[in-house]
Amino acid sequence: MLNIKRQPSSAQSNSSIKSLILMIGLSGFHLAMADDKANQASIPALPKYQQECAACHIAYPAGMLPAASWKRLMNNLPNHFGTDASLDAASVQQISQWLQQYGGTYKRVTTDAPQDRITKSAWFVRKHDEVSAQTWKLAAVKSPSNCMACHQQANLGDFNEQHVRIPR
Ligand code: HEC
Ligand code: HEC
Repeated sequence: MLNIKRQPSSAQSNSSIKSLILMIGLSGFHLAMADDKANQASIPALPKYQQECAACHIAYPAGMLPAASWKRLMNNLPNHFGTDASLDAASVQQISQWLQQYGGTYKRVTTDAPQDRITKSAWFVRKHDEVSAQTWKLAAVKSPSNCMACHQQANLGDFNEQHVRIPR
């Protein structure tokens, strides 16, 4: 007859400790990954926003500007950073509502953004202090607003440093 209980008990507890350590390690890794994704996972995508607000630049993450900034921008689309980004009233209404709900939810966004720009926000300037003045002026960059110049997956809401490549 097989003696099932005959397993050496020390080996068993050893392996369960190992799998416990592995589990803790993995969940820590998972949390770090979620954090890097700029909270995108928790924000349901709005197809209308992708459609209307990603024609001239990426659809900037809603969480990266305070709700008050989004409100001012959405109320002034005919005079949008020197261009006309007008939309029909229904689209403005739908996008505004969504931006009000998710504005300011990125972890570092707490105060107002000068000129209602992500790129003028204190956290943005701090996070980019290693980027030289020359780099910002490169033809391949043109403007700090051009996230895709360096963040290769910015359009997916991914600003993880693994996917940063600064052009030369
Ligand atoms: C017709 C082109 C166009 C459309 C459409 C457009 N934008 Fe823009 N947007 C611009 C330009 C140009 C800038 C300034 C970019 C620069 O300074 O390099 C800008 C800048 C921005 C910025 C500031 C980026 C920064 O520097 O932090 C935000 C936020 C923004 N747009 C949101 C929106 C939203 C929301 C919509 C949709 C309702 C939208 N845009 C649609 C042209 C457009
Ligand atoms: C000239 C290149 C460049 C451009 C353009 C740029 N970034 Fe960055 N960004 C960087 C570098 C370099 C870092 C620092 C990477 C690191 O070490 O974490 C960074 C870091 C970040 C971080 C912090 C990531 C983290 O997890 O700590 C965020 C968020 C971010 N950028 C958002 C943006 C947004 C939004 C735009 C466009 C409005 C933008 N960046 C434009 C180069 C750039």
